[in-house]
Amino acid sequence: MKLLIIHGPNLNLLGARDHSHYGSFTLDEVNQAILKRVNSDSIDCDIHQFNAESDIISNIQSANGNYDGIIINPAAFTHTSVAIRDAIEAINVPVVEVHLSNIHAREEFRRTSLTAEVCVGQISGLGHTGYLLAVEYFIYKKD
Ligand code: DQA
Repeated sequence: MKLLIIHGPNLNLLGARDHSHYGSFTLDEVNQAILKRVNSDSIDCDIHQFNAESDIISNIQSANGNYDGIIINPAAFTHTSVAIRDAIEAINVPVVEVHLSNIHAREEFRRTSLTAEVCVGQISGLGHTGYLLAVEYFIYKKD
């Protein structure tokens, strides 16, 4: 199995961002936790972080046919990007959306996800554990 993890804008600043929303882990620590989990099951995994919308779209497009699943935190683009939504909809790879914070318990503008509707599901509010649970989904889905 091969998974692609995409972290959206400003997630490179984890650790310095508001801990009450995003926890204290740096992005590197989040990625280490993901890699520890996937490595224990010999799952291939590529992890990228992009601040630019176009980079996320290109990465999603190039994933088509090359991965069994994508785990994406589109960050602020969740609430604004029709283009990322269209890219997810256009490919045949199942995508799980993850948010560290519970976007449904925050400001009104964060409660709408343009991308979740074209994903198989959304995990929100469970901190970095959300990424690990998304990995579990693909493991169990495969079996
Ligand atoms: C986020 C939630 C978004 O609203 C925010 O813009 C982020 C991170 C989360 O993981 O909780 O940057 O996607």
